[in-house]
Amino acid sequence: MRVCVLISGRGSNMESLIRNADGYTIEAVISNKPDAAGLRVADGLGVRCMAEPSLDGIRDMMDGMRPDLVCMAGFMRILPADLTERYRVMNIHPSLLPQYPGLRAVEQALNDGATSSGCTVHFADSGVDTGKIIAQAAVQVAPGDTSDTLAARILEWEHRLYPEAVRWYAARLAAEGGEGPAVRGRDRQMIRTAEPERAASHAAEMGVAYVRRDGDSYMISAEKPTVPPYVAVVPGDGVGLALERVRRLAATDGSA
Ligand code: GRF
Repeated sequence: MRVCVLISGRGSNMESLIRNADGYTIEAVISNKPDAAGLRVADGLGVRCMAEPSLDGIRDMMDGMRPDLVCMAGFMRILPADLTERYRVMNIHPSLLPQYPGLRAVEQALNDGATSSGCTVHFADSGVDTGKIIAQAAVQVAPGDTSDTLAARILEWEHRLYPEAVRWYAARLAAEGGEGPAVRGRDRQMIRTAEPERAASHAAEMGVAYVRRDGDSYMISAEKPTVPPYVAVVPGDGVGLALERVRRLAATDGSA
């Protein structure tokens, strides 16, 4: 099972996912912050890493990769619904959801006088820390705990829980026939990219594919569009010919 990890910061959960990868492989790490410390950690562990500030750019990267699972690990952006619907996405959060979603979850628990808190791995949708809960670990609040001491104890559990949840999902997929939802849905998949070169390489990779313009983007699909203009790419075209066709399309509809 191929996993892509999204980070924004230090990446300790990402590191734990990489070090404990068993039954899954970390295909790439993408950070929306070019200076995220986690990128250096991933690079040091030999994992392909990329920085991409925009969600559109991240969507393009995912469409190029088509991971079976996307793991948010301290990723500080909300993913748009088209991404959470197209890919299976997990997130880890430092509270026992549905309690204390959002920012400063550990502080929220302490301010609330909670006697225990913990962490949650859940499937992510386009809400803030919402989606089906997969696994939780509870941690007792100790007398004199500050948000730093409690967060540190919760983090130890996060590092165990996240790889376990990903291993569970990998096993579930393998039991179902080894193909993830993103892969299984490939034929119905629609890919959007602003770059003609990417449009051409996606289309060439898909075998039979149709490319049409949609505003500033190209939409690539296995299904024939109902409205022209569009171009078809067929097996054997290769990226070169596909690119010629895509460029021709851009000229036809006057957008290039
Ligand atoms: C973790 O506490 C995680 O639960 C939350 O953000 C923090 C990320 O830490 N979503 P790290 O970057 O994995 O070290």
